[in-house]
Amino acid sequence: MRTLIKNGTCVTASDTFAADLWIENGKIVALAQGGQNLGNADQTVDAKGKYVIPGGIDAHTHLDMPFGGTNSVDDFESGTLAAAHGGTTCLIDFAIQKKGGSLREALDTWHAKAEGRALVDYGFHMIATDVPPPVLDEMGAIVREGVTSFKMFMAYPGVLMLDDQSIFRAMLRAGELGALICMHAETGLPIDVLVERALKAGHTAPIYHALTRPEVAEATGTERAIALAEMAKVPVYIVHLSAQRALERVMEARDRGLPAYAETCPQYLFLSEDDLRGKPGDEFDGAKFVCTPPLRPKHHHEHLWRGLRNHDLQVVSTDHCPFCMKGQKELGRGDFSKIPNGMPGIETRLHLLYEGVREGRISLNRFVEISSTAPAKIFGLYPKKGTIAVGADADVVVWDPEKRFELSHKNLHMKADYASYEGKTVIGAPSQVFSRGELIVENDKTLAKKGRGQFVRRGTFNL
Ligand code: URP
Ligand code: ZN
Ligand code: ZN
Repeated sequence: MRTLIKNGTCVTASDTFAADLWIENGKIVALAQGGQNLGNADQTVDAKGKYVIPGGIDAHTHLDMPFGGTNSVDDFESGTLAAAHGGTTCLIDFAIQKKGGSLREALDTWHAKAEGRALVDYGFHMIATDVPPPVLDEMGAIVREGVTSFKMFMAYPGVLMLDDQSIFRAMLRAGELGALICMHAETGLPIDVLVERALKAGHTAPIYHALTRPEVAEATGTERAIALAEMAKVPVYIVHLSAQRALERVMEARDRGLPAYAETCPQYLFLSEDDLRGKPGDEFDGAKFVCTPPLRPKHHHEHLWRGLRNHDLQVVSTDHCPFCMKGQKELGRGDFSKIPNGMPGIETRLHLLYEGVREGRISLNRFVEISSTAPAKIFGLYPKKGTIAVGADADVVVWDPEKRFELSHKNLHMKADYASYEGKTVIGAPSQVFSRGELIVENDKTLAKKGRGQFVRRGTFNL
């Protein structure tokens, strides 16, 4: 099968150029310029007036994950379906080690969750919750199977949090293996005291989720994560960075030449603490926006956009961790600390980031870089994925810069029973989405079958 995407403007992290893109056997085989004729195609898409970009890579998702006394509501079928509709053709989900359990058990569990269900390709990170010597040993086998990054938590004491010594030991081991440590960098112990005191004072509404997880807790966590990584002489990647002071810690580290990296998420660029306050007469509506770190006051947006523009932040992922209001977020009515933490977002990431291009906050090339190329490079998927180049997987999105799309629940495929940006209309959306050369979404119609998505073994850290 030969596919031709003709007349489009190809956009990579570094270049923008007119070319006809040829696909064969799931790979990009030619970029033809100047009307060069390469013969006949079995399938042709006319991309005149459109951008041809590498499929999005979402480096942070939680599909079918037990969390907060319930399970995130998108599984690998609905989650990857939603990803595909949003122009994301590869995601990296988090397998989670049970406390006292092995990494092997966690990885097997996540393979079983994904296999036969996924519509797009996927890899895994491993969340390490317990790292005695046998588990540190086991990290080697996990890395050899292409799971080359480990997330650890400085928050959620008694549940997911690891102490500094454990984190440090895991960092040293990751360094030996060429694996990357991803850090949830909030200092968790004082947060729990603030939560306890708020509840004691009768403060039970969702907004207290933000008021008990102050910016300084994230800044100090970020600083500590970077300091531990510096001592261990390893790179570190800060996940879901939400605020100015944490960003400043990353900038200082990078200015000192340390291999510190960080991602933010669309919710920290577009939503704010105000959303957590709920609607007039319905403060619990704010539960829709409970995620961790919490949404911050609006003035942080500018800092995060500047961080993206200046390469202080490298990636925008979603931290997609969706729960329904009914039966799930409701668990925290009367006690904000019981609201499952997380928001839907896997489907709307590119739409929202493209708003940044339209508003002049980031360039078109930077849009491609932070949504696809940089996560591919940082997480060992490049150059197989993350760019438009001969030899790369034909994970390609034809992006229509004029298409209007309403980010409403009725238009989306994510299973949460609400949309975080209900009523917001964006301009710019995918018209065709290809995964390994197969047309999987066209004009909002699903063409892919579940189970076609493949597990991707990732390389070790090599930047
Ligand atoms: O609220 C969030 N972020 N839920 C998912 C778990 C995590 O910390 O990434
Ligand atoms: Zn986290
Ligand atoms: Zn997460």
